[in-house]
Amino acid sequence: MGTQGLNGRLAFAIAAGAFGSAFQHGYNTGVLNAPQALIMAWVQKCENPNATLPITRPPFEITDGEPGEVLCEMSETEVTLIWAWIVAIFCVGGMIGGSIVGVVAGRLGRKGGLLLNNVLVLLAGLSMISAKYLNSYELIIIGRFLIGVNSGLNAGLAPMYLSEISPTSLRGAVGTVYQLIITISILLSQVLGMKNILGNEAGWPWLLGLTVVPGILQVIFLPFCPESPKFLLLDRDDQERSNSALTWLRGRIDVHEEMDEMRVEQESMKLVPKVTLLEMVKNSSLRQPLIIAVMMMLAQQLSGINAAIFFSTSIFLSAGLDESASQSATLAMGGMNVAMTVISLIMIEKAGRKTLMITGLCVMFITTTLLLICLVVAKSVPWLSYVSIVMVIGFVVGFATGPGSIPWFFVTELFNQSGRPIATSIAVAVNWSANFLVGLGFAPLQLAIGPYVFIIFIIIQFFFIAYVWFKVPETKNRTIEEITALFR
Ligand code: GLC
Repeated sequence: MGTQGLNGRLAFAIAAGAFGSAFQHGYNTGVLNAPQALIMAWVQKCENPNATLPITRPPFEITDGEPGEVLCEMSETEVTLIWAWIVAIFCVGGMIGGSIVGVVAGRLGRKGGLLLNNVLVLLAGLSMISAKYLNSYELIIIGRFLIGVNSGLNAGLAPMYLSEISPTSLRGAVGTVYQLIITISILLSQVLGMKNILGNEAGWPWLLGLTVVPGILQVIFLPFCPESPKFLLLDRDDQERSNSALTWLRGRIDVHEEMDEMRVEQESMKLVPKVTLLEMVKNSSLRQPLIIAVMMMLAQQLSGINAAIFFSTSIFLSAGLDESASQSATLAMGGMNVAMTVISLIMIEKAGRKTLMITGLCVMFITTTLLLICLVVAKSVPWLSYVSIVMVIGFVVGFATGPGSIPWFFVTELFNQSGRPIATSIAVAVNWSANFLVGLGFAPLQLAIGPYVFIIFIIIQFFFIAYVWFKVPETKNRTIEEITALFR
């Protein structure tokens, strides 16, 4: 393959950079779905003195043993609160990790940052595995926080590394790999969480702890890959290492053209002062792309994807399906998320970012509206529950068409090297904050206003369709120089 194409080494670097990092992000997003009841029962420490078999579920759903008195160390309210912390602290970690991306990417480099970040994976994994054996739910909270910080850092470092090692013509496709691995890991967490695999009393600590495996793999394989050539040249001014990194990645010596392109970027960087946070806000040529990057992240989260990822089973139950059908529908949804992300990866360099983003948001808008109608009239028309499954799956397909993957790498395309780390930090921190908001707000709102909660998403989706249409430029097949020139 030519300089502009994919080759074995580039593919290896993409896999080594993306797999270990996106896995943490996706797996830990989905992993608590299945074992919720088991972990809550363990936190609550209930015992039924008359039971012959151990109690495996919270007391409100006891299935084994004799009926009789149930003694719990904690009230249901307390355990619900602890559960909320276990779930939400992941996003709090994500916000913190996201906001230090800039510093880490500048000091340690992209590859260096990714590698060192695995220390957090190890600590988090050990903490979550040992929680049950040391009888401390606090260790799960600590583990979820640490893996959250790790994931927040990954969400900035990995797309940055991927976009900086790929040739212009493949930048979008390679950038999409990060999201593809997130979707595969969410699906994997849902499958492994099934009762006969690891979603049982003996298995759940291992289900949570399994997150260390990709971390170990990354520590083994990433050292064989070079640091980002752009980082080496533009941040470290190291021509030689940058050249040899690029030669390694392209699998050929003739990399002059790309080196020249990077030198042009280096020269233009010398003309502008070093970008600070204040500069980002004051200077309109930086402020405009920053607003776009942030809006793309908000479009990804506030269009409601995690309401589906976190609460799909309960949405399906409220549409009238039984428990096992709801779980199968959740798996189907996860599968479609993966399949459509693959299709989006194939299409992105032809169709372009803007087209896929708008198409995806429009599909989400239509399916959310129809889902709302289904849920409102579900009780009187039973077959509509099946239509609602199709709508939720269609919603995820819309998300995976564009809003799932594009925002992650779009921020890296809108900025040259000097602004990229700070802009990525801000955009990633905003993404996790919005994720936190939806995760925390959806359930109480659903309780208060029922299916009408989806009206909020419908309005937001409409707003973002208009925003992307009018404000977001197409970046496909443009060099970073050409893109940043659009804002001068
Ligand atoms: C994106 C979102 C994440 C979501 C996932 C679903 O990566 O950032 O919050 O869970 O997509 O595929």
